[in-house]
Amino acid sequence: MSVEEDRKKAKEKLKGICGIYKICDGDPSRLCQGQSYGRKLGMGGAGTGASFTNNVKALKKIKLKMRVISENFEPTTETTFLGKKISMPIMAASVTGVNSFGGDDVITEKELCRAIVLGCKEAGTIGFRGETYTYSLENTFGIDAIAEAGGWGIKISKPRKQETIIKFFKKAEKAGAIAVGIDTDGCGSLIMAKHNKPVFSKTVEDLKELVKSTSLPFIVKGIMGVKDAKEAVEAGAKAIVVSNHGGRVLDHTPGTADILPSIVEAYKGKTTILIDGGIRTGYDVLKVLALGAEGVLVGRDVIRAAVGGGIEGVTRLMNHLQSTLKKAMKMTDCKSIKDVTGDIII
Ligand SMILES: Cc1cc2nc3c(=O)[nH]c(=O)nc-3n(C[C@H](O)[C@H](O)[C@H](O)COP(=O)(O)O)c2cc1C
Repeated sequence: MSVEEDRKKAKEKLKGICGIYKICDGDPSRLCQGQSYGRKLGMGGAGTGASFTNNVKALKKIKLKMRVISENFEPTTETTFLGKKISMPIMAASVTGVNSFGGDDVITEKELCRAIVLGCKEAGTIGFRGETYTYSLENTFGIDAIAEAGGWGIKISKPRKQETIIKFFKKAEKAGAIAVGIDTDGCGSLIMAKHNKPVFSKTVEDLKELVKSTSLPFIVKGIMGVKDAKEAVEAGAKAIVVSNHGGRVLDHTPGTADILPSIVEAYKGKTTILIDGGIRTGYDVLKVLALGAEGVLVGRDVIRAAVGGGIEGVTRLMNHLQSTLKKAMKMTDCKSIKDVTGDIII
């Protein structure tokens, strides 16, 4: 099997939900789009899809400088995240709920979580696990997969009631998880409220309480400005994810790569800075590393890999991304992740 074959299989299974386009950018012509006119969010972006599209556009604007006259070398993509050695600065995003728009025949939530967590582990990297309205303290599909992987995974909770989040964190601790966190940008989720699982905006004090509640490093996902970054850092977040949730929570935001430089300038060294949104290739990864990110999360492509190829499909995708990143590093004269600087982009 290959990444391409996994995608072909995913195309059959995700018929009417995702077109498995070569360019996955939330363009209005894509079959996932149309929320403005009542279509379900599915794999698409909020409203017109502008935020989803802006993620891809922001990456497209950045150009790589080719630099090939040097001593011969084999680049290494190894790095660390929260003190753990990983094979590449590429991890799987906390994507969930594919069965809620595709049905269990496409993939069950349990199998989605297992594919992502175990598939990433096999590739030497980490799978993040999120949460949607089908999750409860009894149905913790993500944490179960993390436990199966011997704790090798990260749990991102929805911004529910503080005491509920803390219970999820305790369960993640028991599973031996690497870290926990919340997607603060999940605070507008109507579907959670509709299923009697309300979500809330969180204050710095709330975040501090969550940091204190756990022995694990705490991550804030959903940062799109310096003010929110400041508050996350002040609360004690060990990592932040510059993210607009793949353009799924607010229409008309800038692309994440447009926002990243301001966050890097203000907070690099004070917390670990990750980014996601529209990252599809090793070239995209290199671009955002050059802007100062320390790692990336990949969302929609990981879903397609899990649906088409299960655990092995996710491993294949991660290995493929790693080899493309390696090639991009070779062509820009970067021997290691530390050598990737702003000098390699225009
Ligand atoms: C179908 C789908 C479900 C998602 N579910 C969650 C979730 O439960 N929790 C979360 O933190 N992020 C969720 N996300 C957002 C991703 O974690 C990530 O931020 C985004 O997908 C990155 O953009 P990309 O898909 O363009 O790579 C979801 C994204 C998609 C496409």
